[in-house]
Amino acid sequence: MTKRVRTAVIPAAGLGTRFLPATKSQPKEMLTVVDRPAIQWVVEEAVAAGIDDVLIITSPTKKGVEDHFDRMTELETLLEAKGKVEMLQSVRQITEMATFHFTRQGAPFGLGHAVSMAARHVRDEPFAVLLPDELLPDGGATLRRMIEECEESGSSVISLFEVDGPEISNYGCAGFSSRDGDVVEIDQIVEKPAYENAPSNLKVTGRYVFTPDIFDKLDVTEPGKGGEIQLTDAMAMLIGDPGLRGLVIKDAGYDAGQKLDWLRANVELSLDDPVVGSQVADMIREIMQGRGLS
Ligand code: G1P
Repeated sequence: MTKRVRTAVIPAAGLGTRFLPATKSQPKEMLTVVDRPAIQWVVEEAVAAGIDDVLIITSPTKKGVEDHFDRMTELETLLEAKGKVEMLQSVRQITEMATFHFTRQGAPFGLGHAVSMAARHVRDEPFAVLLPDELLPDGGATLRRMIEECEESGSSVISLFEVDGPEISNYGCAGFSSRDGDVVEIDQIVEKPAYENAPSNLKVTGRYVFTPDIFDKLDVTEPGKGGEIQLTDAMAMLIGDPGLRGLVIKDAGYDAGQKLDWLRANVELSLDDPVVGSQVADMIREIMQGRGLS
């Protein structure tokens, strides 16, 4: 029985060039999805899965991310004075849902390097990593299952999703030796393989639960694809001892780092919103009819 997973590490140091010009002077993680920044959705997912400690890996251009999870007493006092109870609650809830820590990556040496920055904070405990480009609004269900699987088996656990054809070359890709329901024992993992060399059609989706062994592996990981320290290369060293498992999920949520999927997240999640959902549905119908599309 391993220790309990308490901490989520969120690497948020990337430049966000895919979203220029929107991300010229604001962090991509702060782009709005319905009514809150994308990164807040990801933190809420981690909290729903039982996590209460969040370490965000940032860079000098990400002050907006740090401010978002910090208290803003002036605003709170103003909302309190005006009796705006719900707004005040929504602002306070951001800082109260977990304990937040920030550390800077220092240099853009890749995702593996970003995760290695968490070593001093996490020490000898298992922990989760959530990539904030990926939104998985499932109330923390996937992450919770991954945490249980890690705590029971002592293996690191990552989420995997089946993709069609050459799309696999844009992602980490895992092959497996055995399967029990939706859990696979991974025996190969490669970062962005050529389609013809991909060990399977299972992509790595951006949710990971690691035993602290990953830090020793990251320490000895040489620069890989793109000259960066790849998390995938360090994960390959976990195979067999102490083990790397995959949870094959049926819905990978949204890749909010891609324009079209970000727009889709906004449309679908606003349709799910209890306050504006039905108005959004009416609006979409009206737009479609107005354009002769339905
Ligand atoms: C990163 C990981 C990759 C993973 C992907 C998920 O790639 O390196 O293994 O499949 O996230 O979104 P990136 O999107 O940073 O190129």
